[in-house]
Parts: sequence; C-alpha cells; structure tokens
Amino acid sequence: MAARIIGTGSALPERIVTNLELEAKLDTTDEWIRSRTGIEKRHIAVTETTTSMAVEAAEKALENAGMKGEALDLIIVGTISGDLCFPSTACQVQSALSAANAVAFDLNAACAGFLFGLAIADAYMKSGMAENALVIGAETLSKMMDWNDRSTCVLFGDGAGATVLKKDTAGMMSMVQGSDGQRGDALVCRNREVNNPFVQNGREIDYTKMDGQAVYRFAVRTVPRAITEALQKAETEADQVKYFLLHQANIRIIEAVAKKMNQPVEKFPTNLQECGNISAGSVPLLLDFINRQGKLTRGDKIVLAGFGGGLTWGAAVLTW
Ligand code: COA
Repeated sequence: MAARIIGTGSALPERIVTNLELEAKLDTTDEWIRSRTGIEKRHIAVTETTTSMAVEAAEKALENAGMKGEALDLIIVGTISGDLCFPSTACQVQSALSAANAVAFDLNAACAGFLFGLAIADAYMKSGMAENALVIGAETLSKMMDWNDRSTCVLFGDGAGATVLKKDTAGMMSMVQGSDGQRGDALVCRNREVNNPFVQNGREIDYTKMDGQAVYRFAVRTVPRAITEALQKAETEADQVKYFLLHQANIRIIEAVAKKMNQPVEKFPTNLQECGNISAGSVPLLLDFINRQGKLTRGDKIVLAGFGGGLTWGAAVLTW
C-alpha cells in the first residue's frame, strides 16, 4: 500500500510585484534578475497570511479530491514562515477545515518541507496510522526578507500548495531524503528578537541571508544524485517519467539538472517566472498548476524534488 495523491489545490496572494517594480526600489534590473534566475514577478502577501493561503489551498485540494475535512486523519504543513510560533499552521488549518479526526503538525525542512511531508504521510499509511492525509507547503517569505538586500529579496515569493493523499495500491513508489547540517550556514534566517533581561547582547531581529553560489553548487550536485537514487529504488528509467517537478528556485538550476539527467528540459515544467521561490510551497503549487491544466493522466510516472535550507533535500517517484 502507498499514499496516492488524489487532489491538489493552491493559493497565491493577489498583489503581484514585477521585476520592474523592484528596479524602481532597489539597485537591480529586470535583466539581471531574469538572466540569473528566470524570475519575472512574484506574488507578495499584503492581507494574506501563511494560514489563510494554506487553508485556501487545502479547501481547493479537498474539493478536487471530492473529500471532506472530517475524513482526514493527518494534516502536515511544511513551512518556515508560520504566522504564530504556536499553535502550528497545521492546527489552524485543521480548525478551519473542521477536520476534528486529524492529527496536525508543522514540519520545518525549508524548501524540502513538502517532500518530507509526503514521506511522513506515506509512512503513516504504510504503518496503518492513516488512511487520508493532507500535505501542504505554505509560506509568507516576504516577511523574512531584508527588502534592502538585492541579493535575496528579488528571489522569493509567497503562496501555498496542497495535496490530498489516500491509501491505495499505487502511489508513492520511492523516496530519497537527506540533510547536511554542517553546511547549514549557506542559507539562514534568525528572525527572533531576544529581549530576555538575563541574556547579554540580545539578538536583534534578523532576515534571510544566503551564500547563493554555495546553494547553487549544492543543488546542481545533490538533486540529480537524489533523483537517480529514487528512480533506481522505484526500478524506473528517467525516460519513463512524464514530468520532473523541481523546487522552483532558479531556472539555471533546473536546466543544469535536466542536462545531468540527460532529459529534455520540456519535461521540467516551471512556474518560477510568475511565482519566484516559495520554499515548501513551490513543488505542490507547481503540481496543482500542472494538474489543473489537465496534463496528468492516472498511471503517469512523476518525479518531485525539493532542496534548500538545512541543508535538506528530497526526491520522490510516484504513480499519478
Ligand atoms: N541585482 C543586481 N545585481 C545583483 C543582484 C541583484 N538583484 N544580486 C546580486 N547582485 C550582484 C552582486 O552584488 C555581485 O556584484 P559584484 O560582482 O559587484 O560583487 C554580482 O551581482 C554577482 O553576484 P553573485 O552572487 O556572484 O551572482 P550569481 O551569479 O551567483 O547569482 C544567484 C546569484 C543568487 C542568482 C545564484 O547564486 C543562485 O541562483 N544561487 C542559488 C540560490 C537559490 O536557488 N537559493 C534558494 C535555494 S532554496
């Protein structure tokens, strides 16, 4: 038995910020951002929150699956930008969906958060602990950016994607995951102000910092390796895969992975042009875009892969 995705949904903030708008506020250019990353615009939350977008994406995914919230027995939200320290985003989603029978918790694995969530849902189903699950990736990264730092703020966006999973005879075929805490300094956000009177030199509020080149090197080395291993475990050839849905960080990373995998880049759909990097939200959001465009047929083989802060990475091969 395995977890099978039976519904998808997504949510994006209404406000769109183009590269040209950023050009007017920062020492950057549309040309620089497009040529280095592929990003043209991103959605930025003004009234929306991580929870409101997670709920909207979840409601659409449940509708797409033809399921009610009360049927869920597991809700996982991959996020690094929950609105509250606690209760978790997942518990707030549970409340909004009246999913009283579900166990709900958040998971911090940065841009691999959705992949890690899928692995947990699959393990719950294999062990008999769940029949129906909701796995969400939701982020409001805009609140974690220094909007004066052109090297980071142009890269990220806000949004959420959700999937409903059901225990079935086909679905997740293999999962590969990894973490490398020793290289965690490459992508960091300390966003808590410390005002504890017993602590000297309390930390000021801080924003996302990234060694872009280190993250780039990590991604182009690790992702093809993880996908290859996942394909081997699933006894599936890359040529049999219809789509490779990768974390939407940078078009150059995606093209480099396609080349290393010896696969046509057309098999790697993207939406980073419109959305930027939404961390845990990016893979489920892209999956929903593809699903709603009617591009998936039951039985298709798909690869999902996420990578980022931690460092963390995950790849999955699944039957749609
Ligand atoms: N606009 C204009 N210039 C910018 C800029 C911006 N938004 N951001 C940085 N620059 C400048 C730098 O200051 C630097 O200037 P200098 O040469 O005068 O010092 C120059 O551009 C080159 O910077 P560098 O960081 O070497 O660029 P790069 O080619 O490595 O591209 C990234 C930067 C971030 C696009 C690239 O490293 C990358 O994509 N890394 C992966 C990041 C990622 O995907 N992270 C998320 C993973 S979850």
